[in-house]
This record gives sequence, structure tokens and C-alpha cells, in this order.
Amino acid sequence: MKVAVVGAGYVGLVSAVCLAKIGHDVLCVDRDSSKVSTLRNGTVPFFEPQLENLLQDEVKAKRLAFDTDTTEATRASNVVIIAVGTPSNGEDASHNLSFIDMAVEDIAPGINSFKVIVVKSTVPAGTTRRLAASVRRLEPAADFEIASNPEFLREGSAIFDFMNPDRIVIGTETPRAHAALDELYHYFSERNCAFVRTGLESAELAKLASNGMLAARIAFINELAELCETVGANIQDVARSMGLDERIGPRFLNAGPGFGGSCFPKDTKALVALGKENKVPMRLAEAVVESNERTKLRMVQKIELVAGGSLGGMRIAVFGVTFKPDTDDMRDAPSIPILSRLLENGAILRIVDPQGQKKGKAHFPNALWFDDPYAAAAGTDLIIVLTEWTLFRTLDLPALAQSMNEPRIADLRNIYNPEALRKAGFAAVSQVGIANRDAGLQ
Ligand code: UGA
Repeated sequence: MKVAVVGAGYVGLVSAVCLAKIGHDVLCVDRDSSKVSTLRNGTVPFFEPQLENLLQDEVKAKRLAFDTDTTEATRASNVVIIAVGTPSNGEDASHNLSFIDMAVEDIAPGINSFKVIVVKSTVPAGTTRRLAASVRRLEPAADFEIASNPEFLREGSAIFDFMNPDRIVIGTETPRAHAALDELYHYFSERNCAFVRTGLESAELAKLASNGMLAARIAFINELAELCETVGANIQDVARSMGLDERIGPRFLNAGPGFGGSCFPKDTKALVALGKENKVPMRLAEAVVESNERTKLRMVQKIELVAGGSLGGMRIAVFGVTFKPDTDDMRDAPSIPILSRLLENGAILRIVDPQGQKKGKAHFPNALWFDDPYAAAAGTDLIIVLTEWTLFRTLDLPALAQSMNEPRIADLRNIYNPEALRKAGFAAVSQVGIANRDAGLQ
């Protein structure tokens, strides 16, 4: 099929590259001409494993090209996928739909024959139907159908997730739209992937509901972690016991410094806003948002406790600042409020992050940046682990402790065995959800 993908951000670019890989003829458009020329040169403007190589392969195979003109791209395609950003509105935290509205204004005049418009951007329920009405208003004679087809890929494993979906959710209301989406995803139906065929609003809500549920699991495990620390329990034992119940399952039960990224914080708030707009209180989602903010602040207290004194002038090695490993994304990363608080208190930060430096520098302008964790830790009084990059999991802990001025550690991702840390010479150890007396602190 001839496919136009509007928006060359995470979702758009990954979708464009993967749809080309499964054999479609894809034109990816973005209004940002400098981004388009970067992509034409085979460079991806953010870090996502495998994406750049795959993009270069597809461009070489002539299945993928880039442009800035959405109207022209629409004319040349059977299917137009909208994958522009829907960031948070500052005031009420609902999704900001201005980019998607702009995309529709550009798409409408390009409908020169039958087209199917597919909304992949995360949007509140009701948006896809409203967009169809906008197209009809702009171009009353346009022959088109609309579909909602949310994306469930994770940063850091986006290509894998696109190519191996747990399910493909397709919201359509007419046989023509249905047939076009069937053809678009034929590759996956041949491989027995689960398809969920719904109406428009159900598909839209399925995305917000999935992110809301996953965020709620994390908020719940983080609250339990605090309780574990207080009653003398270990969150890893509790989570494993819970996760072995097949009804609960083991994933997304890792306690940590709170969830971040471009999706969970934004989408939980958007769920609350959608509830308010429809006069259906989303009390659990509200609690998740609040709980996550509290978790981040609680990390500052844990750091202060393990530091054992004033942070003023304290040299601290920070392992990881991105919101999760295998990405350079800093959006809503827990590191931002946590480290900002430490900086306000006069700490000297020595940061090491395999991909985070470029975007992280803007958030922590006075920090020193290192490539090597040993160099970052040398002569410091404390290590803080904020992102569980593989690089940090395999370090020589005794060598690390020996190079420090005061071997203390706040392992806020629980990547190390507390016993191994103690044996390595760390005198003070703080982890999340592991009672202090187990972890070497009195
Ligand atoms: C999330 C969803 O997992 C995807 O399914 C969805 O498509 C995507 O949002 C989106 O809406 O586009 P992503 O934000 O890339 O993907 O990252 P996750 O792997 O879900 O992690 C989100 C945050 O939760 C991270 O800060 C991570 O550290 C945290 N987390 C995750 C935990 O603290 N504990 C866990 O057990 C799992």
C-alpha cells in the first residue's frame, strides 16, 4: 500500500520504518524541514536502538522517503497515518490537540481519491470522530474513512514492540475502513497476531486505559515499597509473590523512583481530564498522579538519609538520568526533580549516562559529565542509581567502593544485591522497598 505517515517523532518514525520493512511504500512527512533533511541523510534525531540502521536500509530499498508536504503526501497515498505529538495542555493537563488539528487541515485538501485516515496519536475518546467532521467541513466532497489505531510501543524497544505486538487495536466503523486496515496489517494477521476490532471511542480509550493501568501498577508497587521499608519487609519478595499469581503477572512491578517519560505522566493526567470533562471522576487515576509525585520527593529524603549529613558541597556520582534505559529521552524523568533538589542543596553532581548527556545538560547545567562510571565515582561521597542501564549492572563493586571518599550508595532501581554491596565495602546502602535494617542503615 502507499502510506503517508504524518509526524516523524517516536511513534511516526518507528511506524514509518516498520511499515516499510513489512513491504509498504511509505512517505513520512514532518513540518520541520531541518528534521526532514536530517532523516534524508539517514540520521535519526534521537536515540532508539536499531532504528537508524533500519531506516537507512528502507531508504536504500526505496520503500521509505521523507518530505515536508502533508497535502502532497496525502495525494500520493491510500492510507494517511496521523502520528503527531499530543503533549499535555499546561492548564488542565488534557491532551493538546493543536498539532493533530493542523495535520488534518493539511491532509483534507490532499484527498483527491478514496483515502483512509488512521489516527495513531494518543487522543481523548471522541477526537477521531471530531477529526472526521473537520475533514468533512473543510472538504465536503472528500471521499475518505477514518480509523483509530493506537500504538503500544515502548521507547528503547520500539522496533521490537512494533514488529511483535501483543495486540493490534483497530477502531473502525465501516467495511471500507476495515478492509484498508486489514491490508495495512496483513503481515501481522498472517502471523496470528491478536486483533481487537472496536468502535472509534473504544480504540482511543484502550490506549489511555492501558497506560493508566500500567502507571497504577507502578504507583501501587512504589507505595508498597514505602510500607515495606517501614514494616521491615522486602518489596522484591513481595512483588515476586504477587507476580506469580497468574491473575496479577510479574511485569511492571519494579519499585523505583517513580514513573516518567512522555506517556505515563501525560496520559494519566489526560485520563483525569477526560473524566472531568465527562463528569465521571477518575479517582484512581488522580491518586496515581499524586502518588507518583510523592514517590519522587520521597527519593530525595532517602538520599538525604543515606548521605548522613548536609548535601552542601557533597560530591555525588549519579548513575543514569534518562527516564529509563536504552533511550536519550529526559521527558518527565524522575531525575529532574530529584537532582534539582540536590543541586539546590549545594551538592556537586558527577553524572554518567550512556545517552543522556545531550538532553540532560539543559536540565543540570552545572553538573560534570562522565562516560565511565569509575571515573564519575572516584573521590565521591555517594553514588545514586537513577536509571538501570546495563552498564551499571556489571560494575566491579569493591573497586568502585575503594575509589570513593565515603562508600555510600542510594540504589533507587534496586539493581544491586544489598549483601554484595555490603561485602564490597559500602558502609551505607539505601534501596527502594528494602527495609533499612536489611540494607545496612540503622
Ligand atoms: C509506555 C508504555 O509501556 C507503552 O506500551 C506505550 O505505548 C507508551 O508508554 C506510549 O504511550 O507511547 P514508555 O513510556 O516508553 O512506554 O516506557 P515504559 O517502559 O512503559 O516505562 C515508563 C516508566 O515507568 C519509566 O520511567 C520506567 O522506569 C517506569 N517503570 C516501568 C517502573 O518504575 N517500574 C516498572 O516496573 C516498569
